[in-house]
Amino acid sequence: MRWKRAGREDPWLLLSLPFLLLLVIFPLADSCSGRNGHAQRLRQLLQATGVDDFASFPNPRLRDAYIGLQAWKLAIISDPKNLTANWVGPAVCNYTYVFCSSLPSDPSGTVVAGVDLNHGDIAGFIPSQIGLLYDLALIHINSNRFCGTLPRSLRRLTLLHELDVSNNRLSGRFPDVVLRLPSLRYLDLRFNEFEGGVPTELFERNLDAIFINHNRFAFEIPDNIGNSPVSVIVLAHNRFHGCLPASLGNMSRTLNEIILMGNRLNSCFPSEIGLLKSLTVLDLSYNNLVGSLPESVGGMFSLEQLDVAHNLFSGSIPPSICSLPRLKNFTYSYNYFSGELPEECFARQSSFNDRRNCLLARPKQRSERQCRSFFSHPPAECSFFSCKPLNSPPPPPSLYSPSPPSFYPPQLNPPLSLYSPPPPPGSLPPPPPCINEPPPPPPPPPPCIEPPPPPCIEPPPPPCIEPSATSPSALPTLPEPSPHQDPFPAVVGIPYTSPPPPYHHR
Ligand SMILES: *[C@@H]1O[C@H](CO)[C@@H](O)[C@H](O)[C@H]1NC(C)=O
Ligand SMILES: *[C@@H]1O[C@H](CO)[C@@H](O)[C@H](O)[C@H]1NC(C)=O
Ligand SMILES: *[C@@H]1O[C@H](CO)[C@@H](O)[C@H](O)[C@H]1NC(C)=O
Ligand SMILES: *[C@@H]1O[C@H](CO)[C@@H](O)[C@H](O)[C@H]1NC(C)=O
Repeated sequence: MRWKRAGREDPWLLLSLPFLLLLVIFPLADSCSGRNGHAQRLRQLLQATGVDDFASFPNPRLRDAYIGLQAWKLAIISDPKNLTANWVGPAVCNYTYVFCSSLPSDPSGTVVAGVDLNHGDIAGFIPSQIGLLYDLALIHINSNRFCGTLPRSLRRLTLLHELDVSNNRLSGRFPDVVLRLPSLRYLDLRFNEFEGGVPTELFERNLDAIFINHNRFAFEIPDNIGNSPVSVIVLAHNRFHGCLPASLGNMSRTLNEIILMGNRLNSCFPSEIGLLKSLTVLDLSYNNLVGSLPESVGGMFSLEQLDVAHNLFSGSIPPSICSLPRLKNFTYSYNYFSGELPEECFARQSSFNDRRNCLLARPKQRSERQCRSFFSHPPAECSFFSCKPLNSPPPPPSLYSPSPPSFYPPQLNPPLSLYSPPPPPGSLPPPPPCINEPPPPPPPPPPCIEPPPPPCIEPPPPPCIEPSATSPSALPTLPEPSPHQDPFPAVVGIPYTSPPPPYHHR
């Protein structure tokens, strides 16, 4: 159906192609790159490929894809690994890293279904003619040096299922166009320079994975996050503030992994989060969360990794945590937990990291002075944050709060600065000047601080490896479908084929 409608000949496009290339690509090149060399390369291209001879295209969709790919190639300023070197001539399905397939509606017609330039170290931008690649199901361009932003024309890619533009130099506001992609399930914008707010609509989309970590987004996580059907969401290392929403508890049907580390969240831990019975990884570290951990944490039966380190949590460790059957790593260092470890927890202490708290009889705790100072000036009560909807039961009794125990006399000195170090500020370099002279060297991959990666099933855990030199065989290939199979990735249950960039601290 779609095939037939869009497949008609378009004489205007045919005749106007050289002008299209000249008039549209060339000015676009100015938007985020130097103009040097473009006119010359364009002329060479037109001469070399005999671009207005369209007889050589088996169908008009491949012709449009050709224009889109050539425009993209023109927008590439540096391709040090020569990944696009053979993107020449009309046989687009023979281009390396371009994958063709047939449409379900017309097995005899071949279309361009995937572009995978992961780890290419390519510098350039994404031209608006990418909209001519409207049959793409998959775009993987992680670990390159693309700058600018995602063009609006991307919305024409109505079959796009996976979009991985992570670890590039994209900047500007959140690219709203990704909200207009009806087939999108996997959205990966991490390790770029996007800034500003994140539209709440993102959480209404039918996405399975959202990675927007390591950007410069700043906003309050909206309550409608609980409407998102994602299995994995990583918002780490941005500038999110405000409440840790209780509505997260609504995601119990789908959510496997949530990483919010390195933001500025400032509230209590809502007891509703204990409803997340399928959650395997919960990382809230390096925020400004206060209050105690609710007993309901024991409801997260699937939990394997729990990290609440570097916050302002206090109270005692709820015994229910130590009954979690799959818990492998519970890290709660650099908080103000107090009292003694519950008996249930003795057997599991070796998988706990409890440094720098106020725990009696545990090694490597905070000094008595620090603890005394904290408890004499405790952070605000949960009600202070007016997070909604939050119907938490009162926090369980703890040895210290609300009033300091008698053996710590009231502190008269001004409180020490007890706040945990904030996530490394300004660790992001200034926006790169893109490709103008001289091109900045790609930032060295930061060390992998966090082995092993959290176990997650879908998508596979980001391997903590340095990008290796890309050889064609090292790149994932789009599965070759038989003519009767759906050539596009299934909507659910597929492992994502894009190996993401390493998840690491900057
Ligand atoms: C890419 O091609 C250029 C020119 O043909 C060549 O000098 C260079 O060595 C090639 N680089 C790689 C990584 O193959
Ligand atoms: C594409 O590659 C195939 C297999 O290598 C070859 O037979 C075919 O001639 C190529 N097509 C063009 C137009 O170069
Ligand atoms: C979402 O969560 C809030 C707070 O936990 C609750 O009041 C609301 O009913 C939930 N909505 C749905 C659809 O489950
Ligand atoms: C537990 O996880 C923390 C980070 O969340 C990591 O630093 C630590 O090495 C892990 N411990 C073990 C024993 O895996």
